[in-house]
Amino acid sequence: MNDKTQICDTILDAIGNTPLVRLPKDFDPEVKCEVLLKVDYLNPGGSMKDRIALHMVHAAEKKGLLKPGGRIVECSSGNTGAGLCVVAAALGYDITVVIPDKMSSEKIAALRALGADVVVTPCNVDIESPMHYTKVAGRIASEIEGAWWPDQYHNRDNTDAHYYSTAPELWEQCGAKLDVFVAGAGTGGTLSGMGRFFKEQNPNVKIIGVDPPGSILAHYWEHQEICDSGPYAVEGVGEEEVPGAWDPHIIDSYEVVPDIESFAMARRLAAETGIFPGGSGGMNLVAALKIARTLPADARLVTILPDYGKAYLSKVYSEDWLRDFGYLPKVGINNATVIDLMREKNKAVLFSIDNVSWAVRQAGERGVRPLPVQDGLGGELLGVFHEDRALALLAEGKDLDAMSVADCMAPAPTVLDAHAPWQEAVEALKHCEAVLVDVRGEYLSLDRRDLLQALKRLDHSA
Ligand SMILES: Cc1ncc(COP(=O)(O)O)c(C=O)c1O
Repeated sequence: MNDKTQICDTILDAIGNTPLVRLPKDFDPEVKCEVLLKVDYLNPGGSMKDRIALHMVHAAEKKGLLKPGGRIVECSSGNTGAGLCVVAAALGYDITVVIPDKMSSEKIAALRALGADVVVTPCNVDIESPMHYTKVAGRIASEIEGAWWPDQYHNRDNTDAHYYSTAPELWEQCGAKLDVFVAGAGTGGTLSGMGRFFKEQNPNVKIIGVDPPGSILAHYWEHQEICDSGPYAVEGVGEEEVPGAWDPHIIDSYEVVPDIESFAMARRLAAETGIFPGGSGGMNLVAALKIARTLPADARLVTILPDYGKAYLSKVYSEDWLRDFGYLPKVGINNATVIDLMREKNKAVLFSIDNVSWAVRQAGERGVRPLPVQDGLGGELLGVFHEDRALALLAEGKDLDAMSVADCMAPAPTVLDAHAPWQEAVEALKHCEAVLVDVRGEYLSLDRRDLLQALKRLDHSA
């Protein structure tokens, strides 16, 4: 095991040896047993997949499949891609990652930042389609001289990485006392590799799989038949075919957790404990707590947090995204008020003492029009930022750093109360491009586009 208290020769020495953290007792008062979280998002690439990336690359080098100057080509929901990027950068390989467009923009941006050529494919295609991300990766790899496709879904070294790294590390942290291990499966590498190790140590350890509805794995485990797959939003887990790396025989039971519960749990864990998982970590914890509630006080249950919540700031951790896609309850049109139409981005206000260059930057970057100007936080509404006047001053060569926003204002448009019926915003926006909304003394802009985008958040049948 690596020692992170010493200087690491390369970032690869920082892979693994992640903390095992106790879930606070009061997180779920119905749980009597000990619940521990393997915080594997604290790997350099932000997920447990760094472990398999390193293991698969070393194995491919040994087998002569990957040679100096070679290129790694992999299909990934983002995390294996990021892990492989870390390894490729440290060892001097080129890398192409093929990723479905369902995955978060943060993950795609991170792959590019880590030096990958990124190919984005549609997520709503059949697994047999040549546009499916697994097929695209295979084709690209076959077309490039010296390219190697790890194919994590069917690579024994994926499972072995968890058998030789994650599982023994966790077993040692637990002092060989473990009763239940809970994890979701995408490729199945984590569940199968760790499950195999734990069963070998103690056949009484229960291995529990977790699946989103729409994946075929839980159904296959129970009925040994492939059912129709369906859409779900949690990333990295669930499958539409049976991956070779997934071993149903070591699994004792399966739990199915809807996206809405997974996301709510991830958000609650982050806000209440500072442990900041992605959606699949939330999914694992929902299943883990359900089982933990049935266990005696002296039992110990462990689940894993595969990746980092920061990769989902635009999704699981965005109230706008959750509302737009129905993961927060919709408000019925009979009860909806103006505040139900507001988006996070609308929280943009200028203060009269701000200078004009700052206001110009805010107007450009925040995409909010018009920007309200207040006399300090919670202070009187003075007007809105006058963009045309600012541009004229700029053209005249004025020093905008030296001028305050107070010198560059237009009168405020109609102001609505946040708790007025939402129809008031519709009526007002018939006559103007934007209104301001008084949210407890903070004045926020609402324009026609915001209104149109927000209408789908309301329950029109209510
Ligand atoms: C976020 C996340 N959670 C869980 C998993 C499942 O891990 P495994 O592929 O080992 O089954 C993955 C796999 O990509 C993942 O990205």
